[in-house]
Amino acid sequence: MTLQTTAPRNARILSVGGYRPPRVVPNSEIVDRIDSTDEWIQQRTGIMTRHIASADESLVDMAEKAARVAITRAGLTPEDIDTVIFATITYPYQAPSAATEVLTRLGNTHAAAFDLSAACAGFCYGVALANDLVRNRTANNVLVIGGEKLSDFTDPDDRATAFIFADGAGAVVIGASESVGIAPTVWGANAETRDAITMQPSWIDYKQDPTADIKWPDISQQGQTVFRWAVYEMAPVGLKALEAAGITVDQLDAFIPHQANERIIDSLAKSMKLPDSVAIARDIRTTGNTSAASIPLAMDALLTEHPELHGKTALLIGFGAGLVFAGQVVELPPVPKK
Ligand code: UT7
Repeated sequence: MTLQTTAPRNARILSVGGYRPPRVVPNSEIVDRIDSTDEWIQQRTGIMTRHIASADESLVDMAEKAARVAITRAGLTPEDIDTVIFATITYPYQAPSAATEVLTRLGNTHAAAFDLSAACAGFCYGVALANDLVRNRTANNVLVIGGEKLSDFTDPDDRATAFIFADGAGAVVIGASESVGIAPTVWGANAETRDAITMQPSWIDYKQDPTADIKWPDISQQGQTVFRWAVYEMAPVGLKALEAAGITVDQLDAFIPHQANERIIDSLAKSMKLPDSVAIARDIRTTGNTSAASIPLAMDALLTEHPELHGKTALLIGFGAGLVFAGQVVELPPVPKK
């Protein structure tokens, strides 16, 4: 018996939307608890300010706002979305998923929906999956959300993380397209360094000994290990993604890497020999590191600052806890329909 299949088609990012919580937190509000300085944080990371959600603003509150902007800009309604992929590591429930909570908020309770755990690479993993779902006609309009409320899982007294992580959500809608709008994804892991970024302790530790003095699970990070890995390993990933897209650095218009550290961004741009004509996203300066949200937020900010980049080519690279990574060249969304 021969099973039936359908001819593949092309997909692209139709729109992007972002949401940053209104509270802006400057370095000066953080430094005392971690014996640091505004100057150190700016020099070592590029971060000047970040957005932190209030106690009563949830991860899904932020995600819903970003999603609604992306759906409207695509000229669609929530009913048109048939799949939701929510990349996050900070939804405080194992089940049901954050993606299905978004569905109920949008008033569309029938679309396929699931969460994706690939930390700071989660958004690029989601773009890869959405591309293949649309290409193979499993889905027509996929909402890919990257969202985090990292302030819930960051120890404000931890000198290695308190100044980096922040809150926010970004979303894109990926749908069918005449031409190739998303090139093949280059992805993988280096799980030997699995302990370089962790969220500890596990919930099982509470279950096994409820009387023990166990702290809340917060993110911890071996900064230098991750920094070195990102700087040496991610430039070849970017170059492979360009090769997979069949373009050279001279044909690239924008570079939108995960916003982990401005020094990593500069180093990758230098290693890949990106020409000055390539616009580089530096949203980290005012948004901090928002893990899965960082690339769609940086994309939204770059397009606001440089509207001429709508429809142009961009290299995305996400990397983080696992350690895992994914990179792809995409055509940036067209000028919003609304
Ligand atoms: O999003 C997931 C992926 N994550 C990343 O890509 C993060 C990658 N790593 C980094 O961005 C950097 O490693 C950090 C920004 C986290 C840290 O910067 P660093 O340049 O690697 O700092 P370090 O740990 O090597 O410490 C350098 C110095 C040390 O002092 P001495 O020994 O040179 O006197 C530290 O004690 O800076 C000191 N230090 C600090 N000083 C002020 C470390 N943390 C702080 C701090 N404030 N918060």
